[in-house]
Amino acid sequence: MNAMHAHSPTTARPGGILIEGLRKVYGAGDTAVEALKNVNLQVNPGEVVGLVGPSGSGKSTLLKCLGAIIEPTSGRMTLGQDVIYDDGWKVGDLRTLRRDRIGFVFQAPYLIPFLDVLDNVALLPMLAGMPNAKARARALELLTALDVQHRAKAEPSQLSGGEQQRVSIARALANRPPVILADEPTAPLDSERALAVMRILNQMAHQAQTAIIVVTHDEKIIPTFKRIYHIRDGQTVEEAGEGRALD
Ligand SMILES: Nc1ncnc2c1ncn2[C@@H]1O[C@H](COP(=O)(O)OP(=O)(O)O)[C@@H](O)[C@H]1O
Ligand SMILES: [Mg+2]
Repeated sequence: MNAMHAHSPTTARPGGILIEGLRKVYGAGDTAVEALKNVNLQVNPGEVVGLVGPSGSGKSTLLKCLGAIIEPTSGRMTLGQDVIYDDGWKVGDLRTLRRDRIGFVFQAPYLIPFLDVLDNVALLPMLAGMPNAKARARALELLTALDVQHRAKAEPSQLSGGEQQRVSIARALANRPPVILADEPTAPLDSERALAVMRILNQMAHQAQTAIIVVTHDEKIIPTFKRIYHIRDGQTVEEAGEGRALD
């Protein structure tokens, strides 16, 4: 864990995510865009929560703020016991925060072209100090869970879009981060594979007490969420989901 300290009595449950009154304005003056007006959201460890909203409603902006990729304009974000943003960053080392505590699954799988699939997945644990053999064993286990283990020795460019997406999901899980942020992770996948991805995310949440946010408008997976946040015009509303069983 990092040496970070909460500055206020409000905290999420250990490992969880808490966002309060978050606002993000792009640009300034006449051309300013208020992408997030007032976002409030909580994800407990062990939960997979959906974030659903029309195009341009601020979903990606919210994930990028929470992932410390862009800076919010105001509000508060807490990861576990640590306030990471409160009208300004409260963490000195945002790189370490991103590397050790947050797993990202993006729409486009940004795999490293000159590493084979296995090492793309094993890289982060290796960088975090895990022995290479152990990191590769974990990578193979994840690739197997995602049914793409037969591509372990291939280079990313040799894979189909769906295979690349599954590899990028394995990579996001490899470090066992306490938080996973997924932006449309199942968009290029067929129904069976999309549900397999949701099964893995739910297992991960349950077994490792990960807090997971999945941005989606994929009708195939929306019934799997127990809780959904709808975002519209930069504001969130919480709603109960169907929570359909996955196995
Ligand atoms: N870098 C940026 N500069 C200016 N405006 C942006 C930028 N990124 C997103 N926006 C605007 O912010 C709003 C929310 O965008 P985004 O978070 O990408 O929505 P979504 O992911 O829900 O489609 C949109 O109006 C979009 O045009
Ligand atoms: Mg988006």
